[in-house]
Amino acid sequence: MSKKLFIETLGCAMNSRDSEHMIAELHEKEGYETTDNLAEADLILINTCSVRERPVHKLFSELGGFNKKKKAGAKIGVCGCTASHLGEEILKRAPYVSFVLGARNVSKISEVLHKDKAVEIDINYDESEFAFNDFRSSPYKAYINISIGCDKACTFCIVPKTRGDEISIPDNLIINEAKKAVNNGAKEIFLLGQNVNNYGRRFSGEQEKVNFTELLRRLSQIDDLERIRFTSPHPLHMDDEFIEEFAKNPKICKSMHMPLQSGSSKVLKEMKRGYTKESFLNRVEKLRSVCPEVSISTDIIVGFPGESDKDFEDTLDVVKAVKFEQIFSFKYSPRPETEAEHFTNVVDEEVASDRLSELQLLNNEIIDEKNASLLGNVYRVYFEDLNRDNFVAGRSDNNIVIKVKGSEELLGQFRDVKVTSIGRTILTGEIVA
Ligand code: SAH
Ligand code: F3S
Repeated sequence: MSKKLFIETLGCAMNSRDSEHMIAELHEKEGYETTDNLAEADLILINTCSVRERPVHKLFSELGGFNKKKKAGAKIGVCGCTASHLGEEILKRAPYVSFVLGARNVSKISEVLHKDKAVEIDINYDESEFAFNDFRSSPYKAYINISIGCDKACTFCIVPKTRGDEISIPDNLIINEAKKAVNNGAKEIFLLGQNVNNYGRRFSGEQEKVNFTELLRRLSQIDDLERIRFTSPHPLHMDDEFIEEFAKNPKICKSMHMPLQSGSSKVLKEMKRGYTKESFLNRVEKLRSVCPEVSISTDIIVGFPGESDKDFEDTLDVVKAVKFEQIFSFKYSPRPETEAEHFTNVVDEEVASDRLSELQLLNNEIIDEKNASLLGNVYRVYFEDLNRDNFVAGRSDNNIVIKVKGSEELLGQFRDVKVTSIGRTILTGEIVA
């Protein structure tokens, strides 16, 4: 009987990919198979996120639950960003945990497995060329890391402290990984990094200088690869060359994440984002002028220290001007080891909550209006998810999620779909060709 692995993944797409890597390593080197049943697992892993505070509290309550439900002798390992920044403290607060493995150390999973109470959290560890096994949770869409870490110093963000300095993965390794995925049936690849369009800034060894735009060009030469997506680009690095390649390259999906964080130039400066309200709007204008069909999503933080009513109005201004297709909005959460943690001009909790509601209300109005205009449109949809109720869901090139009645034969297929009914997060349609 094979050993069983239960793995829970919190947080971002990069964490999902790290989990895929760990599953592959544990399968290849240790013979583990995954299970959804915690009680039969020999190894329980939780791959954590520490971007905001709430998930950290959740971690300890969940670990307690795992410890109660696990079978005798099963090991529990804590991985990811919270592992990186809490380290030893996790073993102190939850002594039944067997090991702690940082977000920059996932390649060491089979090593720490055999060392009781191991804590591997070196954020300078260079695993950028770690040759990963093939495991992918979806055969249709391949997540591929193109860089690790982040060189920015956004004052609210803990990521540079949990994932370390930015290192780009050599383009030939990325291209080989993409080709392998395509040979195994994926028609779409999803490039991952904290700062993808800063690609090429630093490699660990000697290497031809290749920037993100050039990487996209090279990847799009792969036969049978039809779609390329990526996250997250940074507004600061959206130069004209990149935006023009994005617009004209037919394999690059026309959906762009442009994390705004705040619409106030004063707050952006305090956040050390490197752009202003005006320069952000200028990039949106350039993008929409060369690529009118693009859908733009964003991340916004409300209640950052010092954010006045006027600053928040600036954020609403940008939202009204851009009309984002999707907004991920968060209340500011002070994080350890960040600069903003020491800022004293804290925004009242209630004010921050009210701002969050106001922003979300405005966003819902914008989305409802936009969605209503989509009724009857036809999109080329790539199907990737089988839903329980005999529906199969997929995405249009510009990231609209549409479901149709159908079965698993549709998975990994492209179809033209006409939108027949509208919901806020998902549309329903019927196949027309
Ligand atoms: N490199 C990514 C950011 C990763 S963190 C990017 O530039 O898009 C994902 C999002 O979490 C951020 O964009 C930000 O909106 C949010 N976030 C990060 N730190 C936060 C904090 N301390 N409080 C609230 N939201 C935060
Ligand atoms: Fe965080 Fe800013 Fe990097 S949000 S991940 S420090 S670009």
